[in-house]
Amino acid sequence: MIILAIETSCDETSVAIIEGKGGLKNPSFEILSNIVLSQVKIHKKWGGVVPSLAKREHQANLIPIFKKALIKSELLKPTTVVGSQNRQPLSVLAILNREPELLEQFLKFIPTIKIPKIDVIAVTVGPGLEPALWVGVNFAKALATVWNKPIVAVNHMEGHIVAVLLQNGGISNFQFPISKKNQNSKSKNKNKIQFPAIALLVSGGHTELVLIKKWGDYKIVGQTRDDAAGECFDKTARMLELPYPGGPQIAKQAENFKKYPLTFRMGGWTRREMEREAFNIKLPRPMIDSKDYDFSFSGLKTAVLYMLRDMKERHVNIGDFTPMICNEIQQAIVDVLISKTIRATKEFGAKSIILGGGVAANKELRAQMKKDVKDKLSSAVLYLPPQKLTTDNAAMIAAAGYLRVIKRKTAVTNWQSLKLKAQGNLEL
Ligand code: KG4
Ligand code: ZN
Repeated sequence: MIILAIETSCDETSVAIIEGKGGLKNPSFEILSNIVLSQVKIHKKWGGVVPSLAKREHQANLIPIFKKALIKSELLKPTTVVGSQNRQPLSVLAILNREPELLEQFLKFIPTIKIPKIDVIAVTVGPGLEPALWVGVNFAKALATVWNKPIVAVNHMEGHIVAVLLQNGGISNFQFPISKKNQNSKSKNKNKIQFPAIALLVSGGHTELVLIKKWGDYKIVGQTRDDAAGECFDKTARMLELPYPGGPQIAKQAENFKKYPLTFRMGGWTRREMEREAFNIKLPRPMIDSKDYDFSFSGLKTAVLYMLRDMKERHVNIGDFTPMICNEIQQAIVDVLISKTIRATKEFGAKSIILGGGVAANKELRAQMKKDVKDKLSSAVLYLPPQKLTTDNAAMIAAAGYLRVIKRKTAVTNWQSLKLKAQGNLEL
């Protein structure tokens, strides 16, 4: 099955075309194209994503990105019968009524190409920023209208879960055949994710532990009560005057800090002095010992705020300490995420652990999770998505769309359906 997917839930405009095979039992994918355009430069100066700007950028960029995806997957064929696709011009005008710039480009470009050989259009309907989501949803509706193709509505978080399936045509980033049994196993199922599985989803808007009984069967067993892990990275980075998005910035500073020799001098301090004497920087690990699987990161953010205020009052040059503070912020977040994931894996008897979402790009989280899974769990296997597919992209939406079509969990709607809509707070 060939799936064309559209993702516009936040600040990445993305279109992908992938081929899915193997059904729910043994899903595997080949990415034919996955074009992602980040709007980060636009939102950077505001310190976070501005929904109206995100909408404007998606509108302006969807057609060029879509065209690139068709070219890359070799599905772009010019048509000689110009206008043959304008079967529903009036409905397209109505569908893209609120996206005039997209409409104009749509009407110029779509009639010039042949209907590509795709089976279904997948689109993210939520969760995310509603104005941004609507652009993708309306684009999908308009395409489905002129091409007469079915649409499948996809939950963005399911996309983050199934990103783990998107490598080398299927699962291959299989990290730990931990148990001896697994290590010696030559069975062909070696790379197949075994259920139940626990997924840790960590993005800018979500922090969730999800129990997966099989593909398409998800139960949230824990989630953040306030800020998401990515949001905590972003907000604390802002306090340290680091640019948006903060996660990669904090990670970079922390990595530098770890590289410094103990005698390395930053400002007036050696690293040893900083660690031993200066400001014994120790941030809280909120809810790490709570019996449930919920998270809370707003307390950590406030602790950073107070710590910085205190340092300023003492006339300390915060810039000198930024790498050290970043290291501690990252470690506090990583400690909580790993501890809860390991406990949930034990309690639910999960055989597999899946990591997903933008924060899953974090190298320390990946490395420390690998180590702890190996040391503390005897029989669970950790699956990590390829680093570049942890942040938002349409390939993961296409993969989730494939599983949904196979499962028919969400009925595949045809283009006349009026039910398809953006749902900012959609749950898994
Ligand atoms: O999944 P995603 O691309 O978008 C949402 O659905 O929210 O995640 C974006 C989040 C941002 O908060 C960003 O700071 C964080 O992922 N992030 C990271 C790293 N790369 C992205 N956080 C920590 N370390 C990273 N390397
Ligand atoms: Zn995301």
